[in-house]
Amino acid sequence: MNIEQITLVRTPQGAPIEDDFSVGGASLSAPIKGQALVRVLALSLDPYLRSAMSSRHLSAAIAPGDVVSGEGLVQVLVSQHPRMAPGTIWVAACGWRSHALLDATTIEQARPVGPEVQPPTLALGVLGMPGLTAWAGFKKLADARPGDTLVVSAASGPVGATVGQLARLAGCRVIGIAGGSEKCAWATGEAGFDACIDYHVHDLRVELRRHAPSGVDIYFDNVGGNVLMAVCEQLAVGARVVLCGLIAQYNGSAPVPLNPALIIRARATMRGLVVYDHWTQLAEMQVEIGAYVRAGQLRWREDISHGLSETPAAFARLMVGRNKGKALVLL
Ligand SMILES: NC(=O)c1ccc[n+]([C@@H]2O[C@H](COP(=O)([O-])OP(=O)(O)OC[C@H]3O[C@@H](n4cnc5c(N)ncnc54)[C@H](OP(=O)(O)O)[C@@H]3O)[C@@H](O)[C@H]2O)c1
Repeated sequence: MNIEQITLVRTPQGAPIEDDFSVGGASLSAPIKGQALVRVLALSLDPYLRSAMSSRHLSAAIAPGDVVSGEGLVQVLVSQHPRMAPGTIWVAACGWRSHALLDATTIEQARPVGPEVQPPTLALGVLGMPGLTAWAGFKKLADARPGDTLVVSAASGPVGATVGQLARLAGCRVIGIAGGSEKCAWATGEAGFDACIDYHVHDLRVELRRHAPSGVDIYFDNVGGNVLMAVCEQLAVGARVVLCGLIAQYNGSAPVPLNPALIIRARATMRGLVVYDHWTQLAEMQVEIGAYVRAGQLRWREDISHGLSETPAAFARLMVGRNKGKALVLL
């Protein structure tokens, strides 16, 4: 069968642009024993893919000439594998394709998406990898107590917004950091954050001192760079810093040096988070966050593009922070 797919043409220099990718055709053979043919319903665009394009991520590198890898929501068309029945919906490593022939290893790692997941794209967002990142980072690494002041960056994205809302539900005071007044208005209005600092227009250090005069007990860092530096200057004694993301560096910017004196002075603990370490708790996370979502206690939003050919542009927007919510492409 003839399909469409997107190939990385060259390693992006700085922020990715549409010309770093090309849309082309390919043909797939019928599945043999152990394989399944799926159609891709939605692609998940995630910041780690940019690191993979520079061979700097734990996952496999994406080299020029490769079809871009990544997860998507897929529906089984034809199956020669006992785990996947035709018609069922899964999250699978399908790559940026209209259809994919999944091998046995990919099928064994795929996750079923039941009819209770509504909309099913939540399995790529708050009920998927970003949700698990937020849940594990907050529940396992942040050591939160009611009354703590928690600061989270990239506050309106799927990881940041979920962290902030879990913290609010646990009785913390939540301060977001986000780029732009619209993102901040969503964080405080919809997601119920106590405050949100628009670092594009305000002095982050001044605003942190204003909103957290007694210091920051927990900082959930999704970005690294200057934002990490600024928040570390305002840590309370005994603070916990969860290092989750480095998007300020993904496009190639040099790491910003962090003064260890800030950590010593606050007797702070810094812990690195890798979501894959928590994968066995995916179901536990889905039960908890799923209940919050159904009860309307945890809000989410999606930044949706339409059509495979729009994927490079959508990814380029994500990597300069122009997405508003979980970046997805519906096919
Ligand atoms: N450690 C792990 O296992 C793990 C797992 C999943 C995700 N992550 C990381 O968690 C972070 C959030 O992921 P997400 O999926 O929720 O993404 P996201 O928030 O939807 O998108 C990334 C956001 O990062 C912000 N940003 C800050 N500095 C930026 C810069 N220099 N360039 C571009 N964007 C910048 C932008 O929001 P503002 O405009 O609001 O700043 C942008 O919208 C990412 O760094 C990701 O790599 C880590």
